[in-house]
Amino acid sequence: MRSLNGFILPEDFLIGTANSAFQSEGAWQREGKSESIMEHYAKEFAGKVPPYLSELDKDVAKRQARQVYSTDLPDRGCFFYDNYEAYIEDMKKTGQNVYRMSLAWPRIIPTGTGAVNISAIEYYDRVINKLISCGITPFVDIYHWDLPQCLMDEGGFSNPRFPEWFENYARVCFEHFGDRVKLWSTFNESAISITNGYITRRFPPFIKDVKRGHEASLNVILAHYRAVRLYKSMNLGGKIGAVNCITDVTPAGMNWDDIGAAERQTQRNYDWWTEPMLKGTYPEQLFRECSYIRDTMPEGYQQRMDKEFIPMDFIGINYYVSGRTVYLPDSPLLSKRVESFYSAPGQAFAPYPPGLFDVVQYTADRYDNPEMYITENGCALRNQNDPEKECDDEERITYIREHLRMAARAIRCGYNLKGYMYWNDADSYEELDGYNLRFGLTWVNHETGERRWKKSRYYFSEICKSHLVN
Ligand code: NOJ
Repeated sequence: MRSLNGFILPEDFLIGTANSAFQSEGAWQREGKSESIMEHYAKEFAGKVPPYLSELDKDVAKRQARQVYSTDLPDRGCFFYDNYEAYIEDMKKTGQNVYRMSLAWPRIIPTGTGAVNISAIEYYDRVINKLISCGITPFVDIYHWDLPQCLMDEGGFSNPRFPEWFENYARVCFEHFGDRVKLWSTFNESAISITNGYITRRFPPFIKDVKRGHEASLNVILAHYRAVRLYKSMNLGGKIGAVNCITDVTPAGMNWDDIGAAERQTQRNYDWWTEPMLKGTYPEQLFRECSYIRDTMPEGYQQRMDKEFIPMDFIGINYYVSGRTVYLPDSPLLSKRVESFYSAPGQAFAPYPPGLFDVVQYTADRYDNPEMYITENGCALRNQNDPEKECDDEERITYIREHLRMAARAIRCGYNLKGYMYWNDADSYEELDGYNLRFGLTWVNHETGERRWKKSRYYFSEICKSHLVN
């Protein structure tokens, strides 16, 4: 082993960028695509205070960056639908060997469950073929938040037929693209789309109903099992996992009560999804310690999981921020988030690079060192509509360097981390914030579609080509 191994990424390490369909494609009403919930709610709440805010106490509201739903709509993204060739050529020049993308359910099956839209299949065929011809491995998310609105009208995730709907859609994806796509993920960040969507009311579809939220979450787990089982039965020779998000939560005080609070927060957000997907069970501690969770679970949930459980091949981890928490007896999770140690002027998510190491280590310890990918990690700078300034993005370079150093360290410690995907490839649409945040390595003019490489893309490119982090 070389003494500087901490700065070396293995040769087979997947390194590249990520984006999702509804955030990047634009072309939201073209060639048969139907409306998704992300578009529906963006239109409904454009420029308004979203429903959850009235219920937050003032203190939280003050800290909430997202006080008003942006008036921007996901109608443009980064114009990926029209310009995918140019974007993928740029990825090739960057030297990256992976691109994480998602397929749009409302584009592929506009009615949610009925006929397949051939022009959508042809579009994704072109994108996947282009990636492969450029030497880039497609990492494909089946679902990244854009449920067809017509399925939401029937109750969405809490409809008992959801697992069947999803399995049907997954089958279409595997049948059409499975010969070329070898890395699949079922669901992206269900903690946001389901827990926040159905329980805390902070994300579309803005429902606040714990019982219904737990039905929805069990349905997602069952749908995930079905897709994994189906994929394996098709013998297509690839791997399938899921992408979950994690905050690196630390106890605010040096006492066991705050440590317990941090454990519950992590389990509720991360293990609530990861444990059923890797081990077939929910985190027991949450049932023991939180009656509102224990008492609102669907009848026979464990038996239903036991019947369908099948472990997935890897876990995708989205890591952005750290948090601090204290014990608070009268709150649902017996805990309350408090001000973080870290802040970064101009950045929407304050970075804490050592947290990347922590979350990889946490996952390895708890789940027997599974195959892991950092599927998202990215620097969110506020839009200034100033390409000169925004392309000179030293803070993003620091962000990437420090996080990748942590990735290299984790690998050196023996953790089974196999890849890193920077979020995101190009400035795109951000849920709730519209075009007010820029994460991209490529700067995009959201009116004209003009693109420019930022300094960070040149820097990232050096890492992709050398697999060395300085
Ligand atoms: C996680 C989500 O998967 C993605 O859609 C979003 O843009 C980023 N986080 C940044 O907030």
